[in-house]
Amino acid sequence: MKLSQAVYAIAALSFSGLCSCSAVKSPAVDLDNSLAYCHNQVHKSLSALRGDSGTIDYSMIPRNISDSSTTWHCRPVCPEEWCSGFWPGVLWYDYENTGDKEILAEAEKYTDALRPLVDAPVYDHDLGFTVFLSYGNAYRLTGKEEYRKAVLAAADSLATLFNPTVGTILSWPRNVEMFGGHNTIMDNMMNLEMLFWASKNGGNSYLYDIAFSHAEKTMQHHFRDDYSAYHVSVYNPETGDFIRGCNHQGYDDNSMWARGQAWAIYGYTMTYRETSDRRFLDFAQKVADRYLSDLPDDMIPYWDFDDPARPESPKDASAACVVASSLLELSSYIDGDKSKEYYDAALKMLASLESDKYRSGNKNDSFLLHSVGNYPAGSEIDYSIVYADYYYLEALTRLKGMKASESNGENKNFMASNKR
Ligand code: GLY
Repeated sequence: MKLSQAVYAIAALSFSGLCSCSAVKSPAVDLDNSLAYCHNQVHKSLSALRGDSGTIDYSMIPRNISDSSTTWHCRPVCPEEWCSGFWPGVLWYDYENTGDKEILAEAEKYTDALRPLVDAPVYDHDLGFTVFLSYGNAYRLTGKEEYRKAVLAAADSLATLFNPTVGTILSWPRNVEMFGGHNTIMDNMMNLEMLFWASKNGGNSYLYDIAFSHAEKTMQHHFRDDYSAYHVSVYNPETGDFIRGCNHQGYDDNSMWARGQAWAIYGYTMTYRETSDRRFLDFAQKVADRYLSDLPDDMIPYWDFDDPARPESPKDASAACVVASSLLELSSYIDGDKSKEYYDAALKMLASLESDKYRSGNKNDSFLLHSVGNYPAGSEIDYSIVYADYYYLEALTRLKGMKASESNGENKNFMASNKR
């Protein structure tokens, strides 16, 4: 074990010592090494994006890397491209961790490049992913007024998709006919964060109310009895009645799509942070427990927990990154054995992700290998995908913040200072 690993193993034990119930050591994550690795990959990516011309085209945003490539495949900034916010978000987190001014300059330019998304009419719920992870992180780290205003504008725009009769946001306006009603997808829980934030940072209080309503209604209808999530819930837009839960990106209507469950864990943990309503905290634990109950030994899920092809089916590192980040936060809201269980599970996931099996290293410019985008559509299967990198770096950044709070003797509820 390297010295830095030993230090973090001890720090983790000291964190878990908040629950004096167990003396069992938490798993070791080489945090300094992992952050330095991410910083190096970011520089490698920027260098490749500059190419021979030495100039970056900021209208093209890194999205994925297949196993036949070593550099990012980029997609244009447009409302239909849901992943545009992750790469600027990666740059903001890397800047936060390193203070590297070159990264700051690139984060600003890539964020500014997303302005057309703020100004365009809302296309779907993904406006939260694109604008909050770019402009939201930009405001958190710079305090610049223009970034705050962009988030408020996007929140107002997203709110126009709310149907008050149903009580949720229409996630995919383009798919109403396909699903036979008002559709709400599990991923949409993530984008409530922008609405909660806006309501507390100069926006209308109505934004809080609709985010609360969406989380509550989703909790009532979007889960099976065992707390596994459907990908899609369909409602009657005129009466608000729940029609059915069904699948889109998972294996089938009754399976547990790994990233969908990950969005649920993150979404309800965040909703508890924003509302202090303990029903959401209890629910976050139930959906987390369901996910944790059926993981492979390496803590990285198959793309769908119920794919009959397991163990031959692909893993989804992106789900693991989302869950690791949210379990760190969830662990900070509770005490005792359960807190340590979530914290240790997150560390095990991060330890697995930093292993050669999942780390991209010299293979390509991303942080991580082995994510799955949309398996049923045959898209991005066993790829490096930018949102895996975003939530991985967020998890590492949160872990760093938790360890710093702990060593300063501050309250373990680190999110009070860490949230956007
Ligand atoms: N939000 C789309 C996905 O998780 O693939």
